[in-house]
Amino acid sequence: MIARIWRGAVRRADGDAYASYMRATGVAGYLQTPGNRGAWMLRRDVDDRAEFVMFTLWDSLDAVKGFAGEDHETAVFYPEDDRYLVDRDETAAHFDVVEARATPPRLEGETVVLRPLGLGDVERLAALQAEEGVARWWGPPDEAELRAKAEGRDPVVAFAIEVDGQVAGLIQYYEENEPDFRSANLDIFLGDGYRGRGLGPDALRTLSHHLVDARGHHRVTIDPAAENTVAIRAFERAGFRRVGVMREYWRAPDGSWRDGVLLDLLASELERSER
Ligand SMILES: CC(C)(COP(=O)(O)OP(=O)(O)OC[C@H]1O[C@@H](n2cnc3c(N)ncnc32)[C@H](O)[C@@H]1OP(=O)(O)O)[C@@H](O)C(=O)NCCC(=O)NCCS
Repeated sequence: MIARIWRGAVRRADGDAYASYMRATGVAGYLQTPGNRGAWMLRRDVDDRAEFVMFTLWDSLDAVKGFAGEDHETAVFYPEDDRYLVDRDETAAHFDVVEARATPPRLEGETVVLRPLGLGDVERLAALQAEEGVARWWGPPDEAELRAKAEGRDPVVAFAIEVDGQVAGLIQYYEENEPDFRSANLDIFLGDGYRGRGLGPDALRTLSHHLVDARGHHRVTIDPAAENTVAIRAFERAGFRRVGVMREYWRAPDGSWRDGVLLDLLASELERSER
């Protein structure tokens, strides 16, 4: 992963207008470029100037070039920059990202709250996962794996699903970040006492919104067992559409290979399904 950094400064009185202008030009441009992993606009006011740092993360230098062009070290400017900027870097600096950790935000749905998984949730979630109705699809709980998720050492990003302040289940996503195939895959379970109340679709829609709005995904997928017709209906209720059957896709706890169903949800459909 690559970090790109650029600095500029405007008159302090222009700071707010410049931030709005940058949101509509630079930030939008970063986020729309395949292979961008996020954009941060930093500001500090010093005397009569507002200094800005644009910090962006990218899959690769090729992804940066998709934004900045072949001569990627040259800074990208926009038509009204001259009106605002009193100081500017003519080039952008690039760094290899050696370590990157971000605490996921707390997300609020209609009823559920999705809270980044903590170590304190592991025991409760292991107990919920051990229930027959969950273990049948998820396999038996693995506390070491749950701890790795809570500590951000696992490739998936996991949230505890909270209902009325109680941990009711788990929802997680895995990002495919190969730029030409970028998407996010979800997985979810709710404990026995929490199913059949629309909480699953609420959690799935809430996380899908986050993946589209904050993580820049245009497509979200989920792939339950073909036999898990209850889950498939719940996912369709959340707005997912059935793509097709993936034959002998997953290995069941009894060791046999079973079919799975791929469902997906496009960003545009997520908005439509809620009107
Ligand atoms: C799949 C899952 C997340 C769906 O969430 P949910 O909140 O239960 O979804 P819904 O409220 O839409 O209800 C799902 C179905 O359960 C039924 N149901 C009703 N009461 C129920 C109860 N007490 N317990 C279980 N299911 C119940 C609902 O009627 C609905 O069935 P229908 O489609 O025939 O109407 C949840 O059922 C679950 O955690 N299942 C076990 C783990 C699992 O299968 N995960 C998916 C792996 S990909």
